[in-house]
Amino acid sequence: MLGQRLLPVGVLGGLSLLGGMIEASILALMANIAATMVLRGRAVVIDIGPLNLHMALRTALMAALAMTALRTALQLAIAWLPAHIAANVQAELRNELFDAFARASWSVKSLDKEGHFQELMTNQINQAVGAVMNVAAVISAGAMFLALVASAISLSAIAAAVVLASAIALFAAFRPLDRAGRNAARESSQAYIDQAGGISESVRLAEEAEVFGVTSAYRSRMAKLVAAARNASFHANLTLRIVSGVYQSAIYFIIVGGITGIYFAHAGNLASLGAVVLILVRASSYGQQLQGANHAIIQVMPYLDRLFGSIDRYRASAPNPEGSRLPEVQTIAFRRVSFSYRAGQPVLHDITFEVRGGETVGIIGPTGAGKSTLSQLLLRLREPDTGTYLLNGQAARAFATNDWHRKVAYVSQEPRLFTGSVADNIRFFREIEQADIERAARLAYIHDEIQKMPAGYATVIGQQADAVSGGQRQRICLARALAGQPRILVLDEATNALDLASEAAVQASLAGLRGSMTVFIIAHRLSLLRICDRVLVIEGGHVSAFGSLDELARTDHFYRRVASLVDTHTPPGSAEALTETLSPQ
Ligand SMILES: Nc1ncnc2c1ncn2[C@@H]1O[C@H](COP(=O)(O)OP(=O)(O)O)[C@@H](O)[C@H]1O
Ligand SMILES: [Mg+2]
Repeated sequence: MLGQRLLPVGVLGGLSLLGGMIEASILALMANIAATMVLRGRAVVIDIGPLNLHMALRTALMAALAMTALRTALQLAIAWLPAHIAANVQAELRNELFDAFARASWSVKSLDKEGHFQELMTNQINQAVGAVMNVAAVISAGAMFLALVASAISLSAIAAAVVLASAIALFAAFRPLDRAGRNAARESSQAYIDQAGGISESVRLAEEAEVFGVTSAYRSRMAKLVAAARNASFHANLTLRIVSGVYQSAIYFIIVGGITGIYFAHAGNLASLGAVVLILVRASSYGQQLQGANHAIIQVMPYLDRLFGSIDRYRASAPNPEGSRLPEVQTIAFRRVSFSYRAGQPVLHDITFEVRGGETVGIIGPTGAGKSTLSQLLLRLREPDTGTYLLNGQAARAFATNDWHRKVAYVSQEPRLFTGSVADNIRFFREIEQADIERAARLAYIHDEIQKMPAGYATVIGQQADAVSGGQRQRICLARALAGQPRILVLDEATNALDLASEAAVQASLAGLRGSMTVFIIAHRLSLLRICDRVLVIEGGHVSAFGSLDELARTDHFYRRVASLVDTHTPPGSAEALTETLSPQ
């Protein structure tokens, strides 16, 4: 992070060293001027190491003024540099983290708790950037401290040595506090993550919390997380304050010790004694800054660990972008594929099937059977644990992920919009002509409704504010999937929020696409299955049947049971029969 910034960091150190030397000179000059004035002398005598100057009082005053002006200019540069570096590091860290996240595989991203990534991107990065400011503070305070102590040594070696040795001893004495600070920071980093998770969840549950009349329990759940974050942040801040407060007091003992040293050595005149005391007081304040910044860096480490740990975790999961381009689909096959989210608890086992390019395949089965998991494997959002996924007889893994994802489209069980125009939501960050967007919207049976919106395709919609109805959202997302003219289309219960008329229209569109792309339709409704060439039945993570509807009607007990539910409860062919779900209640 700072490694690539050796030049500005070096410049900062150099400027600070210079600033410290100038400050020491100003202080020595001031002490001498004061002593000269007290003793009613006319000339100021400066005797620092090899430097031995005589100058008129007036000249000395002018020199002090000039040096102060120079120091002010230096101070501006010293203030600009860390602010500049910190702002850049903050933006770079955000881009790096987001880049790693965006490239990471869904199987890793989906493990993150709600609100986790938002917290990393905002608060945890802000905390981590504090490290940059503090490294800059260590460099500049350290340089000033060294410059002042060096000047003090040339004035009174004994006093300065006492102060330096005591400062080092004090540094060592603070080690246990450093450890406590690091632990407190680790706790507060975790507490902030938990708090962010609670905030996101609370926002999502706000409607239900009100409807169920549980706002007081809802508030106290949040209050607990806030209290935990408060306690952790209190401990972290307390160690930080103790370090700087105790150091400040201790330093006076040290200065008194230094003066006592001078006393016993019977050394020094009034002017140099004054200069030494002035310089040491300033040096000690830089020492305090140094100690404080050092401790603050220690307290930032847990945030940096978490941040870089997350970046590494995301990076390690990034799918290999290398591979061949996706050809025309001839066959798609699973050979003995098994998959589990948690070790030892397989959700899909021994799945084997083969479909032809251009086929429309229905996937049915009870809730929790593994249909959505299967769709994620088809999309290559997740990899099989064992077995192989083949396309045209070649391992699907061999195809470049970028090209794959451009040509394999999907409507998820919970389609999501972002805040933007309808056209942008359909285009979804790809380069797609307006004509193709409208063609896809027609296929998804949403074009007429979009045209009736206040600004047509330019109407701004979103997931929450500016929301559209659930059925409209599903059809906009279907248009999104169709707009890229995919070769493979996976629909996971993509029409379950549609009314009968819309569903019939979408069904007709999908029937029209038959042969032009390979379509997998996970459906609960009988009506959609009528346009499928074959239907795959998944039960308990197994393929229990795969055949045409007629075959299933003869042989498959799951299909027959559900079809009989439809038959017994409603007259065949009625509107209700169409909406009856295939899922057993
Ligand atoms: N992200 C996940 N992590 C852990 N288990 C999951 C996850 N998603 C689904 N499951 C589990 O996998 C099983 C199959 O789920 P799913 O594929 O969603 O079924 P379906 O779509 O057929 O209803 C269920 O037992 C479910 O609890
Ligand atoms: Mg599902």
